[in-house]
Amino acid sequence: MERQMLRATIDKLKKNGYLEICDVEVDPKYELGGVLKHYKNERPMLFNKVRGSKTSVVGALFGNREIYYDLLNVTHEERIAKFINAMMNPKPTKLLDKGPIMENILTRNIDLKSMLPVPTYHGKDSSSYITSGMLVVKDPQTGKRYVSVRRFQMLKGNKMSALIASPFLTREFQALESKNKPLEVAVVLGYDANLLLASQISSETYGLDKYEVDSALRGEPLELVKCHSVDLEVPAHAEYVFEGIIPPNKRELEGPFGELMGYYGSQAPHPIIEVKVIMHRNNPIFQTAFPCPQEHLSNGLIREIEVYSRLKALVDVKDVNVTIGGGYRFHVVASIHKKFDGDGKSAILGVLASSTDVKHVVIVDEDVNIFDHDEVEGAMASRFQADHDLVVIGGALGSGLEPSHVVRGITTKMGLDATKPLGDDCIKFEKARIPNFEKIDIKKYFPNIEK
Ligand SMILES: Cc1cc2nc3c(=O)[nH]c(=O)nc-3n(C[C@H](O)[C@H](O)[C@H](O)COP(=O)(O)O)c2cc1C
Repeated sequence: MERQMLRATIDKLKKNGYLEICDVEVDPKYELGGVLKHYKNERPMLFNKVRGSKTSVVGALFGNREIYYDLLNVTHEERIAKFINAMMNPKPTKLLDKGPIMENILTRNIDLKSMLPVPTYHGKDSSSYITSGMLVVKDPQTGKRYVSVRRFQMLKGNKMSALIASPFLTREFQALESKNKPLEVAVVLGYDANLLLASQISSETYGLDKYEVDSALRGEPLELVKCHSVDLEVPAHAEYVFEGIIPPNKRELEGPFGELMGYYGSQAPHPIIEVKVIMHRNNPIFQTAFPCPQEHLSNGLIREIEVYSRLKALVDVKDVNVTIGGGYRFHVVASIHKKFDGDGKSAILGVLASSTDVKHVVIVDEDVNIFDHDEVEGAMASRFQADHDLVVIGGALGSGLEPSHVVRGITTKMGLDATKPLGDDCIKFEKARIPNFEKIDIKKYFPNIEK
């Protein structure tokens, strides 16, 4: 029985009835993505017959909040404390001499497109893309490890594009490039919920070894092995590792690519990876993620910790929802126990300042379920007055993933304080309740009803 990475994930999904298995042939060009999207990328799927390949493809693994909590062995209520604890107390990893990832080591005749069932998702995408590869690099000065999820455009032969949208990576690569030196990299496929979550922590903000945060999260050391040709460590139980270099002073066009918010990111020159070695398990499973908000849940969960921590310093925060509709980054709903009149506005300022990405925030009282859009809308309808309770901040920096910001170059941020007033007026907001409503057992009245 496997404990770490994709095979353990698939076992658990199967055991808990979450995995759909497709034995009908699907085309990796458009069709596979279309099937994933049918259930909004929230239903994990294993495709056993992918046209042109003998390799199975798995997708939509980490896009549903309930399933993701199950894979992390955490409840909604526990999540923030558990994630903060893992970030504050990283634990050592374990380096093994050998691991299943070393079952096959290919060093010659690498042709990525013909060897892998890499999907193409949207009509105007420039190529097929590895959409959820875990990029592993090491700081050559300090030896510190960095892991993050990126997309990789398939190019000819052993080449793929590397989209380096990280301040650390950009700096590191530019320093090496100025000395005409390559950057060693590995791209990992076949990871699990813990490693994905850890990978979403910002290196620029926290500077953590994300492998060690992963060990703390999973409650046992993450098992790693050394790469075959580069000085990097990778998960011993992963499915694929692509080892190689980013050569200095080489660029190829990347994009267009249909990104998470459903718009095409534009074409631009980007560095490339030359893959020198592929390690893979026997009967490897190719992991993909449709580019959509749902697959960015892991990123949103980390953002929820960040917003929560900000708010904790300002108000009595109860819970935070970084919402799917806002791509798990642009929209926040937070509930607070309001103690002072200014708490709603303080909370708005705290949330908007937590990240350049956050664009709109709604603050509600703790009696509102922030994961129920109808309840949030109800609070906006009944507790919010725009001339008093709206905060608008123009001319702010936004996100390049959001076209209305890209068009203007700046963003207008907005906060809605939908909390009820304190004091005597509070009585007007008492919610009507049915006594003992929670105790009603509906099966008593309709014995055959399912739910
Ligand atoms: C499915 C998925 C795909 C992602 N694709 C990209 C990408 O193509 N480029 C990118 O810069 N970040 C991407 N991200 C976000 C980064 O992985 C994330 O911001 C990470 O924390 C960056 O780590 P760093 O601070 O060490 O650079 C993706 C995240 C997920 C969950």
